[in-house]
Amino acid sequence: MTEKLEDIALALVAPGKGILAADESSGTIKKRFDKINTVSTEDSRRDYREMLFRSTDAMKNYVSGVILYDETIRQKAKDGTTLVDIMKAAGSIPGIKVDTGAKPLAGPTSKIETITEGLDGLRERLAEYHKLGARFAKWRAVITIADGLPTWNCVKANSHALARYAALCQEAGIVPIVEPEILMDGEHASHDIDECYRVTEWTLRSVFRELYDARVNLEGMILKPNMVIAGQKAAKQASAEEVAEKTLKCLRATVPAAVPGIAFLSGGQSDETATKHLSIMNAIMGGDSVPWPWKLTFSYGRALQAAALSAWGGKPENVAAGQRAFAHRAKMNSLAALGTWDAKLEKAA
Ligand code: 13P
Repeated sequence: MTEKLEDIALALVAPGKGILAADESSGTIKKRFDKINTVSTEDSRRDYREMLFRSTDAMKNYVSGVILYDETIRQKAKDGTTLVDIMKAAGSIPGIKVDTGAKPLAGPTSKIETITEGLDGLRERLAEYHKLGARFAKWRAVITIADGLPTWNCVKANSHALARYAALCQEAGIVPIVEPEILMDGEHASHDIDECYRVTEWTLRSVFRELYDARVNLEGMILKPNMVIAGQKAAKQASAEEVAEKTLKCLRATVPAAVPGIAFLSGGQSDETATKHLSIMNAIMGGDSVPWPWKLTFSYGRALQAAALSAWGGKPENVAAGQRAFAHRAKMNSLAALGTWDAKLEKAA
């Protein structure tokens, strides 16, 4: 495979393909396992992820890359093959989460706002991850909308950290996925869609300004944004068409044409809603007389895995059912990346 950043970035957003975010930290995967009454151990986490990565058809046809957690990139399957080799054999590019989490941002808003950490020693960690096979990475910044928030301090500090991370990735031959997430869930998420638009636009402008200052090569990165959507607790929810239109408008206003691809996070949307939104956006772009500069696809965690997790339920006898559920969601999202998904196809599963 080519080692050029631009080629790796393009491969990640190849037509009809998207990214599987399987980089839950040990704390987060435990929460997911708790819901299916499964104890989270090194082996159960390995078994679950091995099940996903051995869904060969889904991986080959619909998944361009997989974001891994530090533990997973070092793990071996039961037969001794590394999980990295399993996904590479299926044609997927290994990626790695390199931030060390969102921590309270010192100052008067520290109970709500966070700054993502992980820059110290990152150059050395990236060199090791490259040796282990990673060709792209992820760093997630979290922005919370609440009364009077976010602060400029929070937007600025997180944008700056994203840019420093992205520059270090490119130096190491790794494509950075730049992920500034405006939360749609959590205790404060009662904002309407227009407030999400305002904060998303503001944040993306700040992020691209910092990327420019850090001399990040935009052709060699992927943006992973939230969609423009009302908070989960908002009294008024926007229609799918409004989410699609406002998201596209916001991205067109802020994301330079040099960026090859945009891969959304699902952020708490239901599986089908996340698919539907992506499909409507791609259908709008495909039907437009003015060409759009970037590819639009998925980099979903929850929206790709929820069905597979519950079908598996932690039981070895359910591996085939878990793989079927995963393959179905991957296929639906692949169609959405092409703008050709239809709700009727969900029933056909
Ligand atoms: P969700 O799709 O579950 O939001 O996860 C994507 C992700 O990688 C968050 O960092």
